[in-house]
This record gives sequence, structure tokens and C-alpha cells, in this order.
Amino acid sequence: MKTINSGFNRRDFIKTSAAAGLYTATAGYTKAITGNSLQRPVRIGFVGIGSRGSGMLRVALSMENVEIPAVCDIVEEKVERAQRLVEAAGQPKPIGFTGPEDYKKLAELKNLDAVFTATPWKLHTPVMVAAMKSGKYGGTEMPACDGYDEAWELVETSEKTKMPCMLLENYTYMRNVKMVLNMVREGMFGDLTHCETGYQHDTRYVTISSTGELLWRAYERVLNNTGNRYPTHAIGPVAQWTNINRGNRFEYLVSISSRSLGLRHYAATKFGPDHPTAKMNYKVGDVNTSLIQTNNGITITLYYDSMSPRPVDFIYRIQGTKGIYSGTLNKIYLEGISPRDHTWEDMNTYMDKYDHPLWKKFGAIAEKSGHGGSDYLCFRAFVESIRNRSEVPIDVYDAATWSIITTMTEESVLNKSRAIDFPDFTRGRWQARKPLAIGII
Ligand SMILES: NC(=O)c1ccc[n+]([C@@H]2O[C@H](COP(=O)([O-])OP(=O)(O)OC[C@H]3O[C@@H](n4cnc5c(N)ncnc54)[C@H](O)[C@@H]3O)[C@@H](O)[C@H]2O)c1
Repeated sequence: MKTINSGFNRRDFIKTSAAAGLYTATAGYTKAITGNSLQRPVRIGFVGIGSRGSGMLRVALSMENVEIPAVCDIVEEKVERAQRLVEAAGQPKPIGFTGPEDYKKLAELKNLDAVFTATPWKLHTPVMVAAMKSGKYGGTEMPACDGYDEAWELVETSEKTKMPCMLLENYTYMRNVKMVLNMVREGMFGDLTHCETGYQHDTRYVTISSTGELLWRAYERVLNNTGNRYPTHAIGPVAQWTNINRGNRFEYLVSISSRSLGLRHYAATKFGPDHPTAKMNYKVGDVNTSLIQTNNGITITLYYDSMSPRPVDFIYRIQGTKGIYSGTLNKIYLEGISPRDHTWEDMNTYMDKYDHPLWKKFGAIAEKSGHGGSDYLCFRAFVESIRNRSEVPIDVYDAATWSIITTMTEESVLNKSRAIDFPDFTRGRWQARKPLAIGII
């Protein structure tokens, strides 16, 4: 049995942090999110400055009072490029690290408040654990962890060190996703019964390079896993709509995968049928389909489809006793409110009234950043948590619960879709934890 630590909560966190002379509790979190926080500089070290890392570095540098004292990547040119970016933003040249385990040295720096990682997946938990153990906030790209051991390590390290670690799941900050959350809280959909969601995104081009080499995603995503290898963009929004780990929880899932043809077909078409990548045995199923049951009886269909030629579609459908929203269509139907029975309405009809407060306040700035503006809002939430020394809106319990779906779906697929129980990373505290207020999430 797992040893249980004292619970991690906001009061403990502030007490411990203050006692350690690290921080004093400043403005409340709600105040921070509404933009009135004290502008104390927030100092963040970046680990992994490839495509995503440099994109998020630009987002960080666009924010007031965010400083980047250190950067780390195993590729020297990427470190130098990041240093130039920081200097071009008017900040001193950050210290650069290039060793494969130098993230540990970075985490130990005294002039840092937080560490953000955008490395390949296998490094997310090690970097976050090093950060928290050094008294830093952690911020990670997804998935946060790989397998049960890492998931528990993430949770237990946060509990022991009292340091928060945020999964920077930017898709929970999409405008339509946040607007639906707002409407759920206003009771517009009634009692929820079902959601449908999916990471349906053709990612073959980042799996095999344009010159025919397998990239890290091939090793971490398609060669060794038959389940849902990238669940958090899809499940994150639904988990927030359904109050997972805050009054509700995922109970179990069942999962099934189709055969694996897409990547071989892609490789044969691009590089010829005799190319090694056209003959490989990929474990990933082209389409993985899972069903999740929540404690309060909501069902969720979750897709993972990243090896097929297709336009992006994350579905984001929510159904309740009073109505339905479809992200695919960006349309809504609310019984007794929509003007015509059984007829969709444009979601934008409801924008004035139900646009999320974060979007109302920061939408104009956010829209300049990637992923429909969600990159800015997500990173901003991370920065404000650090600035206010408060909890993070997507904490280790969420990070572990959303990320563990990869391991669970594989277990289910390999066992004729057997039902797999979700671990309760909160150890029962989900029952008392209250949903975060709109404005905080
Ligand atoms: N949130 C989103 O919308 C989104 C979008 C794209 C990628 N991502 C995530 O961002 C992460 C990075 O993806 P990417 O597309 O930028 O990949 P990438 O390959 O472009 O970047 C990864 C970087 O990590 C570096 N790295 C590898 N080992 C390292 C080590 N030991 N120490 C320091 N640096 C190391 C690599 O050199 C590379 O620069 C992944 O977790 C991915 O899932 C998220």
C-alpha cells in the first residue's frame, strides 16, 4: 500500500512557504487572475527549447515582469538561440545549460521561482521532481508522467515538498472550452449526462521527419504503445466541465484500438515501399476509442486518432438534461431557449453573455499567441500562481489523472477491453475538494 502524506492544501502551502522564509502570501488568487496582482517579477527557467519551448519562451517574454534567468537544452544552438531571444527582449543573457541532466543544476539555481519543461515526454516527471525538490514551482507540457510510478512520484513529491506543479494544458483555455465551462456552471446544460472528446490530429509529420527518420514521438508514441498516447488535450476540458477531482472522479475506463496501418501507408507514399519506416511494426492503433464512467454517472467517449489523414477535430461535445454543445460544429441547442425546436444555433449567439471572464479581460492580447490564444492564457495562469504563491489551477492530481489514461488504455486494449479502475490520486480528498471558481479556472 502507498504511504500517505499529510494532505496538500492551500493553508499548509502558505504556512510552510512562509515558515521557510521563502514567500509571504500576497494578493489572493482571484485577484491575481483578474489582473490586479502585485507585479513582483517571476523568474522562470526553461528546459527543452525546441519547437514548443521556444514558442512558450516568446509568450513568457511578452509578459510584464517575467524574467528568464536560465535556459537548458542538449542542443547548444538551441540554448544560444534562446539566450539571444531573451536578450532581444531587453533582459540579461540567461545562464545556459547543455548537459542531458543539467536540468537538475538549473533547478537548484537560487535566482529562480519556477521551472518550465517542454522536453520529450520521458523527461517531464524527472524535471518536475527536480524542480519541486529544489523549492521551485513546476510547469510541464503534456503528458505530465508516464505510468503509475511516475504519476505517484509527481503527486507525492508535490505533497512532500508543498510545491505546486501545473500541467500547462493549454486546450482547457480555448475560448469555446472556457465558455462552455462558464455555461455549465450557470446551469445552462442542466445535469450533465455525456461528453465526447478526442485528440483527432494528424501528427504523422512530427513522427517521421521529412527525410525519413523516426523522431522522438515515434519512440514515445507509436512504437511501444497501443493505447491513447496523448489524452490530455481532449480529456482536460471535459474533466473541468465535470468537476473531476473536485466532487466527482473518473471511476474506470474501457478501451479498444483499431489496426495500425496509417503510418506505414504514409511512409510508403512518401519514401517508397522499401523504406525501413514503411515496413516497421508500429504498435499504435490508428484509432483508439475509450469509454470512461465518472462517479456521478456521466459517460465520456474519448478518441485518439493521430495517424490518419484528417483535419483537426477535438469534438468537445457536452450533453445535459437541458441542452447540448458541439465543438465540431461550434453550435448549441438549449431546450426552451433556442428559438427553434431540434435546431442548432450558432454558439457565438451566446458570446456576449457567457464569454469566460479571462477571455473577456485578456482576449485581445491572448489572440496574438498560438493555439487560438490558449497558450497565452495558460502560461499567464502559471505565472500568476507563482507570483501569488498560490495553488495552480491544474495541479498534480489533475496532471496525474489525465496523463495516466495512456497506461490504462493500453492495459485495457491488451486485455480485450477489460475495465481498468482509475487510481484515486487525491486519496479520497476529491469528495471534499470544491470546484475552483470561474476566474481561477
Ligand atoms: N501544448 C501544446 O499545444 C503542445 C504543442 C506541441 C508540443 N507540445 C509538447 O511540448 C513538448 C516538446 O515538444 P516539441 O514539439 O517542442 O519537441 P521538440 O523536439 O521540438 O523539442 C524538444 C526539445 O527538448 C530538448 N531536449 C531533449 N532532451 C533534453 C534534455 N535531457 N535536457 C534538455 N533538453 C532536452 C531537445 O533538444 C529539443 O530541443 C512535448 O511534451 C510535446 O508534447 C505541446
